[in-house]
Amino acid sequence: MAEPTFRAPKGTRDILPPESGRRRAALHAFSEQAELAGFGEIMSPMFEDLGVFKRLGESTDVVTKEMFDFFDKGDPPQHLALRPELTASVCRGFAEHRPTPPWKVWYEGPQFRYEQPQAGRYRQFHQLGVETLGTDDPQADVDVIALGWNFFASLGLRQVTLLLNSLGDPTCRPEYLEALRGHLTDNASSLSSQSKVTLERNPLRVLDSKRNEDAEIIAAAPLMVDYLTDESRDHFDAVRAGLEQLGIAYELSPRLVRGLDYYTRTTFEFAADALATAQNAVGGGGRYDGLVEDLGGPATPGIGFALGLDRILLACDAEAVFPIPEPVTKVFVVDVTGGSHALDVCNTLRAAGIGADRSYGGRSMKAQMKVADRSGAPFAAIIGEDEVAGGEVTLRDLRGDTGQHRVALDNLVATISRLLG
Ligand code: HAM
Repeated sequence: MAEPTFRAPKGTRDILPPESGRRRAALHAFSEQAELAGFGEIMSPMFEDLGVFKRLGESTDVVTKEMFDFFDKGDPPQHLALRPELTASVCRGFAEHRPTPPWKVWYEGPQFRYEQPQAGRYRQFHQLGVETLGTDDPQADVDVIALGWNFFASLGLRQVTLLLNSLGDPTCRPEYLEALRGHLTDNASSLSSQSKVTLERNPLRVLDSKRNEDAEIIAAAPLMVDYLTDESRDHFDAVRAGLEQLGIAYELSPRLVRGLDYYTRTTFEFAADALATAQNAVGGGGRYDGLVEDLGGPATPGIGFALGLDRILLACDAEAVFPIPEPVTKVFVVDVTGGSHALDVCNTLRAAGIGADRSYGGRSMKAQMKVADRSGAPFAAIIGEDEVAGGEVTLRDLRGDTGQHRVALDNLVATISRLLG
């Protein structure tokens, strides 16, 4: 095959059928479960004023290195960016529309980050998520985490670990940051050069380093959980109690800091243990009690998560669960009289909700049967001159061993429906 003139841009890819059907099925399962839990869908723009995303943290990679930003053609031009995530957009939407809290929304869609692509890491990737705004009740945290947990289980995933931490509140955070900065500064000479730079900008982010030379220093660093105010500790304990009540297993992960700066109190990540790659986080989230205010809205607590669909499906592959759904086409119509009868039969079947497909171009019986086999349809409805004369089709079982028999056109829908159960 000749080299194509163009390929999908680096870090993006085409999702082709039948894999796209599997993604659609996962999205459908997620939307159903989110709606059952009282979330309504928010559809927000794919791009926002860059300022919205700057609130994710001026020292985060997402803001400093990974933003797909551009100027529009206005006068003066507006500095915009493709969304790297949706929590900031949801909070911007809350500040703009001021819905009655608690406001519970779910979303799905592509996100954009200019990352170095590798297995499970793309420049365009798909997230599913929920956000609950306007309550700091720890049971809202539990409800959100449980939704993610149950979604993974519904796909059949067994090897997902819930990592849990509290990042404290604006009262206890400064004291902790001071202790952490002190520890890291004392050991700065042994830190990696990257972590030395990170330390200047945000010591918390050093805890995220996976570099070998940093490991020992990070292991000895003070922990946020030891600095929590009574209020934050009670909140964390209540979240843990709620998870235990629902039988959701979690692992305390006191160095879990997440890659965005807006987090307060509850933070969590879902790790897919079946993914051997470094990119095994299939989702993450937490509280962001100051973000709405930061975006010009009223002081409003919030909690949510986003799950990475691309990685979730890689995890499903690794665990051999959630296969590609059965083909929608149930009947492949093989018309050897020219094709116009196939037009009618397909139309009738489709109107009755039965997936039907056909060949084009008046091809031979053999060629059409080959396409029928490839379609995955369980039945072929064959139309030749004899069938046309009798007002019938020959229905052939393509998968089982019930052979073939003639069916009157008037009975075709009822017969297929019965055979499909
Ligand atoms: P995040 O941890 O940046 O959080 O992303 C959530 C999930 O999106 C990750 O766990 C991962 O599965 C997926 N993901 C992120 N980047 C990529 C990438 N380059 N390629 C493939 N998948 C990726 C957030 O986005 C927060 N908005 C979550 C949140 C919601 N926090 C509170 N509410």
